[in-house]
Amino acid sequence: MSRTSGARIIAAIFVVVFLIVIFRNEESAGTALLPYLPVLPSQRLSKPSSLLQAWIQDRTVLSEKSWKKSVELRDQMAKQHPDNPKVPFFPTDFLRFPFTIWDFFPATWTCPHDIQRVGRLGDGGKWVCGMNIYEGLPAPTAMQENVEIREAPIKAQEGLVIYSFGINAESSFEAEMLERVPSARIWGYDFSVDAWGPQIAAAYRDRTFFKKVGLGKEDKHESSPPFWTLPSLMKENNHTYIDILKIDIEGSEYDALDTMMDAFDNTRSASGNSVLPIGQVMIELHLGDGVHFDSRDAGSNVDFERFRNWWERLERMGMRPVWMEINLFAVTLGNSKSDPRCTEYVWVNAKDERSVLWKL
Ligand SMILES: *[C@@H]1O[C@H](CO)[C@@H](O)[C@H](O)[C@H]1NC(C)=O
Repeated sequence: MSRTSGARIIAAIFVVVFLIVIFRNEESAGTALLPYLPVLPSQRLSKPSSLLQAWIQDRTVLSEKSWKKSVELRDQMAKQHPDNPKVPFFPTDFLRFPFTIWDFFPATWTCPHDIQRVGRLGDGGKWVCGMNIYEGLPAPTAMQENVEIREAPIKAQEGLVIYSFGINAESSFEAEMLERVPSARIWGYDFSVDAWGPQIAAAYRDRTFFKKVGLGKEDKHESSPPFWTLPSLMKENNHTYIDILKIDIEGSEYDALDTMMDAFDNTRSASGNSVLPIGQVMIELHLGDGVHFDSRDAGSNVDFERFRNWWERLERMGMRPVWMEINLFAVTLGNSKSDPRCTEYVWVNAKDERSVLWKL
């Protein structure tokens, strides 16, 4: 046997052993929550695993680092712009300033769970961090089908609490959440429609609550249409916590969340942070041109400085962007030439000790 064929045989044996090791790991993790972590115990969904908990904490530290770096870069990039703090949103001047508003706010915080698309693929569907965590939550006894509701009333905060603002007759996201998450109940609000979209099957309607009111920065319950603030709605529903907040209200999101932050500024978590009582947010952000203020469109009252202050206050209260997708609907609609002024974000609350996403 020559030296080269000996070396080849050794190399071949090495490759085979390597493949066996990889294959075995794949196999043992076939049904796993985190398929690329071969050492996790297989019953982790039903039994809390301290190993998984530790892993999530590690991922959180990593995500915080990566997010912090992007916050520093945001600051540098803004300072370098001669118009700071009135940095224009659009258009891009590729040679001097090769970025738009959205490049300042990338989704740099990695969701430590799965991210799944829920609802339809186009406008109306949403991305969800930790869908399998929500799916694995047991339905409260009072919500199970064979239980007489009157004998065992459901407590306000039981199960997964979802709020949905801006329904616009498209409820594919809500329909899929109800179908896949047996513990979920959804409170929906929209002053421009009379009911949920047709996607929600009759069998799930008793887990939904709709009111024809708008989300506002002030309570105007008697006006037409009526407006409620988020804290008032929570109080009315006896909720102190929202697991998932979905919000698409055409530019009113800035004022609505400001009011929410005002209300919870003094609510501290055990670690002393001021945090929002919301686990995860799917939000569509709308921008005007930031120059021509138009009272018909609340979003046009926002310039770079206002947007950034609003965003960074949310970050101080625990919100971290885990997903973003520029909504090209307006850009591609007919022959109109429009800037991409509308973007979908998913935030998770990284400082929230009540979030089921961090309690495994
Ligand atoms: C909220 O709690 C109050 C006081 O316990 C109760 O009267 C009311 O019916 C509750 N409302 C809802 C929507 O559960």
